[in-house]
Amino acid sequence: MIVNEEGIVINDGYDTLKNIKLENPEVVQGLKGKIITREYKLKEYGRTLYVAVPIISNNKVVGVVFISSSLEKIYSNVNKMTKNYFMLAVLCIIISGLVSFIFAHVIANPIEKLTKGIKKMYQGDLSQKVEVVGNDELTNLAQAFNMMSTKLFQVDQQRKEFVANVSHELRTPLSAMKLLSQSLLYEENASIETYREFLGDIASEVDRLDKIIESLLALVDLDQEKLELNYEITYVNYLLEKLIQSLKPIAEQKGMHIQFICSEKIQINLDRIKIQQALTNIIHNAIKYTPQGKKVEVSLYSEDNKVTVQIKDNGIGIPEESLPYIFERFYRVDQARARSTGGTGLGLAISKQIIELHQGEIEVISQVNKGTIFYVRLPKDMSVL
Ligand SMILES: Nc1ncnc2c1ncn2[C@@H]1O[C@H](COP(=O)(O)OP(=O)(O)OP(=O)(O)O)[C@@H](O)[C@H]1O
Ligand SMILES: [Mg+2]
Repeated sequence: MIVNEEGIVINDGYDTLKNIKLENPEVVQGLKGKIITREYKLKEYGRTLYVAVPIISNNKVVGVVFISSSLEKIYSNVNKMTKNYFMLAVLCIIISGLVSFIFAHVIANPIEKLTKGIKKMYQGDLSQKVEVVGNDELTNLAQAFNMMSTKLFQVDQQRKEFVANVSHELRTPLSAMKLLSQSLLYEENASIETYREFLGDIASEVDRLDKIIESLLALVDLDQEKLELNYEITYVNYLLEKLIQSLKPIAEQKGMHIQFICSEKIQINLDRIKIQQALTNIIHNAIKYTPQGKKVEVSLYSEDNKVTVQIKDNGIGIPEESLPYIFERFYRVDQARARSTGGTGLGLAISKQIIELHQGEIEVISQVNKGTIFYVRLPKDMSVL
């Protein structure tokens, strides 16, 4: 509607109020030069907006444009939108809740399993395994856990076995000594020869105990991972020559011959005392486990980047099923036979440890009643020739 300065409608969009004087407050205010908007709730039209804007000409209010418009449609649209947004928000909350629940379940479940496993391990049960499915970081963690528990379990088993073996090995000579001394104690009128004989036996049992303890201490030393090797540039051929020389009396006692085959001088960096100990064990075995009159052959040669010592005997050999175990502590193919030959079963374990500390390797090929060949390969890395 356009209203003149007296408030009379001169133009009406609906043509219903033309020439009628409007006295509503919006028009009155408009005629005073103010822009007015006001919302009403009318019975007929619902929520309605009144707007009055003064028409100003030459700084004078000459009339008012007065608009009234129903807001119901806009409000219903706004309501509809609010409702939609609300529904969307609820849906979002439900979906995100569901997703977080699933994720939490997926993540928390393996973590819970791992925690349980770790707690059980702490309580001493080292055989723990966590089930692994999938291919994510948690699965990798579970796999690492399983690897760790397997290793710990093995180490624990080995430790238990080792302790059992040590106790057994130490007890055997002790029981022998006890038996020998008791028989002397209870035998009345024992001759001086008997005394001598029994005391001799006791002394050899003491020697045996001494050897076991010495070997055990050597192994404990070698077990220290950061063991410093005392590297020296050494002619391996001379070292072997000297070593064989010192073993010759034992071989000769059995009517055996040790042959050393070497066509070159080979010089490498090694811990002389330790390597000597390792090779002595192996050559001594060759003599020990070869019948009288036979031959032991030691050869030394160099290959691309390594030096090989080959110790070959044509002795009793090692059964195939025993081969994987001969480097284990206290393992002896035939306990009874080994006892008669005075072994502790620690020799090869020590040798292997020493050779591996030098980054070398030891290999064995054997056939029962035909003979055995040990290969000791040492890296030439630090060689000077
Ligand atoms: N050259 C060989 N021929 C046949 N059997 C062997 C040979 N070398 C080792 N063995 C077998 O392997 C076992 C383990 O050897 P190892 O040197 O560790 O122990 P040992 O000789 O019994 O005792 P130790 O060397 O501690 O006095 C031996 O008991 C023996 O049965
Ligand atoms: Mg031995």
